[in-house]
Amino acid sequence: MPTPVILDCDPGHDDVFAIWLAAGHPALDLRAITTVGGNGRLEHTTYNARVVTELAGIAGVPISAGAGAPLVRTLAPADWIHGANALGGPVLPEPVVAADRRPAIDLIRDTIDDSAEPVTIVATGPLTNLALFVRAYPDRLPGIREIVWMGGSTGRGNVTPYAEFNAWCDPEAASIVLAGGLPFTMVGLNVTHQALVTPDVITRIDAIGNKTAAFGVELLNFFNATYEADQGMPEGPLHDPVAVALVAQPGLVTTVRTRIDVELHGAETAGATSVDLIDKLKRPPNAHVATGLDVEQFWRLVENAIRRLS
Ligand code: BDR
Ligand code: CA
Repeated sequence: MPTPVILDCDPGHDDVFAIWLAAGHPALDLRAITTVGGNGRLEHTTYNARVVTELAGIAGVPISAGAGAPLVRTLAPADWIHGANALGGPVLPEPVVAADRRPAIDLIRDTIDDSAEPVTIVATGPLTNLALFVRAYPDRLPGIREIVWMGGSTGRGNVTPYAEFNAWCDPEAASIVLAGGLPFTMVGLNVTHQALVTPDVITRIDAIGNKTAAFGVELLNFFNATYEADQGMPEGPLHDPVAVALVAQPGLVTTVRTRIDVELHGAETAGATSVDLIDKLKRPPNAHVATGLDVEQFWRLVENAIRRLS
């Protein structure tokens, strides 16, 4: 039986590949997509999710909009990487299917209620929606098998020297979700920076030859250009599908159990994830953290998923 999955995302170039991998991998049953303000404002991330699901021929997966802004901070969209509409590069075809009218947390609730087994939530944006869900529906938490989040880092950051973007965007939300006690796995920059979009990766995706692949190549070329300009990395790291891959093929991403806390107050370090890999603080572990990735197998998964789409 495929694993039932909800994807909470802020598309964003790499979120798009997370959507495609979640929809195109046979071990996963993508039941719902929820969107959050992050890489772009909510109207853009929701629109983009609709565009890329429809373009890829993914039908019957409701998409609903969630929080437009972090819990207490001001949204600062990552337009320096993803462009003004959060999905720079290709021309976006106008989607036909409307967004689901339910707020994201209600779609998550209903998806859990409708599932015979607990649902895995993969989050690839700021954790605002999930923090709101934890607060609004504590009685539904047993219906969540685990949360797998692309965010944070065991080392340095990417938006500030010590903070990764998704954590930095809404650190209070990340802290609330961690405190919620659900099984939680963090897939941070220390691992996603191995999933580099090399020229070979682009060639292989291009060779798939379908509409999804062609659109994907346009996304990857834009992404690599902005990553080179902003981060000095001409081969950008495709972060978000790594979190999906961990659920699709356990073992492809190695993890260790540890303690994660989120820095909420540091003048220079707000949003940094403090990952106590050497158990220095003697606090109870509250999460798993990703430590390794089978890079070749990861790209094979992405390719095969895209091949199954339109
Ligand atoms: C994360 O931030 C966003 O820009 C990407 O979509 C990814 O989720 C990487 O720091
Ligand atoms: Ca993202």
